[in-house]
Amino acid sequence: MKRLGVNIDHIATLRNARGEGHPNVIQSAKKIMKFGAHSITVHLREDRRHIKDKDLFLLIKSKIPINLEMAANPKMLKIALKRKPKYVCLVPEKREEITTEGGLNISKNKKIIKKIIIELNKKKIRTSLFINPNKKDIKLAKDLGSNCIELHTGKISILIKKKKKFKSELKKIISCTKYAKYLNLEVHAGHGIDYRTAKFLSKIDGIEEFNIGHFIIGESINIGLLKVIKTFKKIISTK
Ligand code: PXP
Repeated sequence: MKRLGVNIDHIATLRNARGEGHPNVIQSAKKIMKFGAHSITVHLREDRRHIKDKDLFLLIKSKIPINLEMAANPKMLKIALKRKPKYVCLVPEKREEITTEGGLNISKNKKIIKKIIIELNKKKIRTSLFINPNKKDIKLAKDLGSNCIELHTGKISILIKKKKKFKSELKKIISCTKYAKYLNLEVHAGHGIDYRTAKFLSKIDGIEEFNIGHFIIGESINIGLLKVIKTFKKIISTK
């Protein structure tokens, strides 16, 4: 069975817009799990623009299976070792980016990535590296001892959304998945995935986990609006 991890960063974005407690990130995470997701992903960014340290603490305290996305640096390693999420996915991080723009540059950061993987694996925290679909990084991920890779699906998602040719990117993702499975790595996919992209990617044997955020939160607003408007109309027209 393919697993669904839901990224809740943008629930926190919405909450932070008012600096109060609504929507409640912990309650939302609990609901998402109750509705059938397999894990909750949060990206604790250096600038803490959405998820905050307290959110991570409370989510883990609530026994929710957390996949912590984090930059590969000693500060974040310290937090991960203290909080002990179930899973960690190392991602590149640039302060000025709107979202995670590409995969990790593993060759350039080998030493720190290896150290983090060793420390996390010692604590039985599953490790994953977020990479652009390419075999060189898959081999490096294996050599550094990572348990999983997460293939960056941003490029194929944009091609599909813009109705451009995407078959060659799809082929690349298929052959990377095969290669990673051959090396005994677990394969995940994430970034920019909507219903249409998910339909194509879910046909690929070997992708075991999808981590999806922005579309799920955005679409939940579309779907939820009817109920909320009806509730408000009832309240304001009742004396
Ligand atoms: N996977 C990783 C590693 C990410 O960095 C992100 C974005 O935070 C996602 C998945 C989810 O991407 P999206 O919000 O576009 O679905």
